[in-house]
Amino acid sequence: MTTEQGDQQWFERVYANANGQTDDISWADLRPNPFMLKWFAKTPVDAQGKTAVVVGCGLGDDAEELVQRGFNVTAFDVSPTAVEWCQRRFPETKVNYTLADLFNLPPDWKFDFVLEINTVQAIPVAVRQQVINAIASLVAPDGTLLAIGRLADSVSQQLKRPWPLTRGEIDLYKQAGLTETHFETFGDSEIAALSLERFLVTYTR
Ligand SMILES: C[S@@+](CC[C@H](N)C(=O)[O-])C[C@H]1O[C@@H](n2cnc3c(N)ncnc32)[C@H](O)[C@@H]1O
Repeated sequence: MTTEQGDQQWFERVYANANGQTDDISWADLRPNPFMLKWFAKTPVDAQGKTAVVVGCGLGDDAEELVQRGFNVTAFDVSPTAVEWCQRRFPETKVNYTLADLFNLPPDWKFDFVLEINTVQAIPVAVRQQVINAIASLVAPDGTLLAIGRLADSVSQQLKRPWPLTRGEIDLYKQAGLTETHFETFGDSEIAALSLERFLVTYTR
């Protein structure tokens, strides 16, 4: 069993063991990510007629936000239980919730807007470059990637899950052919106690 296969099963187990109880999914806030909403509030984004993809969509709140904003949204997760849960939570949704694995993406997938929140940091550091390359490959020409996660000052902060990203790891998106257009860091009470900050970064291709 490879590291990544073991990890996929880890997520499926968490969702399946929760048995429909959202409280048991520690990362599920049941609302769109507030840092993404702040970014949208200050960044003009023309969503009409544009495609978007949500990487590791979890229980679907960010995907629903993007569809409300006018994108044609695909949202994928490696956990079948998470995908079914999204479909149950949003039975009338226009989002295409689908099962897909970052380690084996359909080669023709390209999107105008790619959203990655807290998924790269949930996958082991050993396969980080592979995961970042896969996410970068989703960005269509002239497309945008918005990524949000926890920032590590040093590799010593990457000892336990979630494994925050170092600045050097975030820069792997540039090595994968994207151009950085914005980078900011900020704190919040949830992670301040861990002496961590969050980052928000955008790229274009
Ligand atoms: C920490 S959760 C974050 C979920 C959501 N993005 C959020 O911000 O609430 C990470 C998500 O990525 C999914 N995931 C993990 N490995 C994946 C992979 N290889 N391909 C696709 N999704 C994956 C997990 O099932 C989980 O839903």
